[in-house]
Amino acid sequence: MPDREHEKKLAAAASLEHIESGMTIGLGTGSTAEYLIPLLGRRIGRGLKVRAVPTSRRTAELAQECGIPLNTLQECPRLDLTVDGADEVDGRLQLIKGGGGALLREKIVASASRRMIVIVDASKLVRMLGAFPLPVEVVPFGWPVVKRRLEEIGAQASLRRSQPGEAFVSDEGNNILDCRFQSIPDPPRLASKIGPIAGVVEHGLFIDRCDLALVGRGDQVEKLARREQPPLALT
Ligand code: 5RP
Repeated sequence: MPDREHEKKLAAAASLEHIESGMTIGLGTGSTAEYLIPLLGRRIGRGLKVRAVPTSRRTAELAQECGIPLNTLQECPRLDLTVDGADEVDGRLQLIKGGGGALLREKIVASASRRMIVIVDASKLVRMLGAFPLPVEVVPFGWPVVKRRLEEIGAQASLRRSQPGEAFVSDEGNNILDCRFQSIPDPPRLASKIGPIAGVVEHGLFIDRCDLALVGRGDQVEKLARREQPPLALT
């Protein structure tokens, strides 16, 4: 049986190589990011100079406990690097994120960053996205309407609950619809259908955002770098 927690730890530790003094970094959310935070705190204790923008309240709390200096996007609107986990990663480094409910802040922080590295265990690597339900963050007022629209484009959508009878509320005060599509053969096309639905705040498809995936597999870390797509051949 693969030890997924061990793989997450290895991937998190490998990302430290990419963090240099003077950088401003985006700090991701989730159990893999939570392995990185104490390691980074220790490096800072030994003299590494970095500032971080957290992608969730949970990450901010943990980072503070670990002695990581935190900033807001107002103070640091441009970041050097974001390191974050993911729920699925395909061969083109397209991602599904938001299993932990932080996709909106995660996408904003990633979009403000020059580079993004994802840290995952090997179970997250997939040939095609879509086995993991795609999280879609919605304005609470509109979720029933958005749910219907998402169902019209093929999703089986369900409102995420924090406990029975209580809707999950994100750090930005929104709800999340978890959408099963079976498979997502064309993520940019699906993103272009979901984005314009009135009431959708953001979705968990990260396309052309991630530059490098560090994948823990057994006792090794595999590196997958994003390849630019070759230009279309002219005929
Ligand atoms: C939170 C996320 C997480 O990065 C994603 O859910 C992966 O989490 P974990 O590292 O716990 O598997 O997108 O919104």
